[in-house]
Amino acid sequence: MGAFSEETIKSVRHYTDRLFSFRVTRPQSLRFRSGEFVMIGLKVDGKPLLRAYSIASPSWDEELEFFSIKVPDGPLTSRLQHINEGDTILLGTKPVGTLVLDALLPGKRLYLLSTGTGIAPFASVIRDPETYERYEQVILTHTCREVAELTYGKELVEAVRKDPLVGDFVGDKLVYYPSVTREAFDRQGRITALMDEGKIYEELGVPPLNPETDRVMICGSMEMLEDCKTRCEQAGLTEGSNARPGEFVIEKAFAG
Ligand code: A2P
Repeated sequence: MGAFSEETIKSVRHYTDRLFSFRVTRPQSLRFRSGEFVMIGLKVDGKPLLRAYSIASPSWDEELEFFSIKVPDGPLTSRLQHINEGDTILLGTKPVGTLVLDALLPGKRLYLLSTGTGIAPFASVIRDPETYERYEQVILTHTCREVAELTYGKELVEAVRKDPLVGDFVGDKLVYYPSVTREAFDRQGRITALMDEGKIYEELGVPPLNPETDRVMICGSMEMLEDCKTRCEQAGLTEGSNARPGEFVIEKAFAG
């Protein structure tokens, strides 16, 4: 068996000059847990060029969805941003990752902290009925530079709430908490600042981070991961992994 298969693009959507999403065929043999990532790529000069991408679709979906940044001189995304329906891409055969329910201890409230394309793994997690079986409340935070960059997440949350399959599980458990840092918006500021000021807790009417009740998944840039990890540790939460479930887990969002 090869390390990757060739899959067909089913649809592409561009959100801004920096962001797009696409859906591809899913090989029947591909199994994954919601929140995991997989290698995807293109053949460049006859050689495979692959990068790790979070799977944004849930594990029950017939197709695979990805949410990507466009980097003008990025080796892969400078090419990937031009794909069209009917084109093929390379897909790895072994999804892995730590942003999975199994890497967290049971709890009451699940925070999904994301910036930019870091929302991708959570697009999978919030479409998985098991998430709502395990937690009483699921808080998805998404911080972007510009308002238009929130569109993917905003529409996703609306669709999840209305979904005939997942909607019943979601009920009123899913809370969407967007913020913007470089444009005017209803809520402005980095998630770290909103936590430090206590604004997120006030606005949601929940107590501050607490290892007794709260679990956290974090996905964004290296700096964002570090800063959010510090907040979790200061609150007394310990990092988990597949081998040793804990109270928070982190993973870097794809960029390049
Ligand atoms: P800011 O505009 O203040 O840099 P990026 O595209 O650079 O990954 O940023 C995406 C979003 O994440 C932006 O809103 C950015 O805010 C925010 N961000 C960047 N670095 C951090 C950090 N260390 N902690 C929290 N949020 C961050």
